[in-house]
Amino acid sequence: MREIPDHTIRIAETSEDIGRCMKIRKEVFVDEQGYDISIETNNDDNRSTHFLLLLNEQIPIGTLRFINENNQLGRFAILKEYRGLGLGKPLLIAVHDYVKAKGGKEVWCQSQAGDPTQGGVDATGFYKRLGYIDKGDRYIKEGTEHQDMVFVL
Ligand SMILES: CC(C)(COP(=O)(O)OP(=O)(O)OC[C@H]1O[C@@H](n2cnc3c(N)ncnc32)[C@H](O)[C@@H]1OP(=O)(O)O)[C@@H](O)C(=O)NCCC(=O)NCCS
Repeated sequence: MREIPDHTIRIAETSEDIGRCMKIRKEVFVDEQGYDISIETNNDDNRSTHFLLLLNEQIPIGTLRFINENNQLGRFAILKEYRGLGLGKPLLIAVHDYVKAKGGKEVWCQSQAGDPTQGGVDATGFYKRLGYIDKGDRYIKEGTEHQDMVFVL
């Protein structure tokens, strides 16, 4: 069994931690994936709980937001150099635990479902691996293909 690096996950409650989350998102979604900075943050951020993943309790390397009103998670990002180490999974599970503790029954997301051979990003395999199932048909959002996916807690 592989060893997952030491890490900490906490809810971003201070402006410093929220800033750390936003910095990671900018690096991943704007600088790496090319989304416009003007759509990377939006009103949903104000009504979301933001999660921060740190390596060795120090280095901010991942984030995810959960929109409490409609049980939607999104803006899930691990910095490129730290992917594939098994750190995305505990971050997602931390959100599941948070929702379960509030009495939530399911969560859902709009997963990117682009074609990697055409330069797209496909995260559906990640969510499937964690037990998410497709809901409905694929659709185009912000210029790229997406798939709604649901997880029953
Ligand atoms: C999607 C993302 C958060 C996954 O994080 P990660 O740290 O690389 O994931 P993990 O290492 O925890 O992987 C967990 C499991 O999912 C699998 N997995 C990860 N990415 C996968 C993919 N794209 N397709 C299929 N399986 C995948 C891993 O192999 C691992 O399986 P295992 O438990 O059997 O070993 C990360 O790739 C990322 O930040 N991507 C860029 C931003 C993005 O596109 N976010 C999604 C927005 S919808």
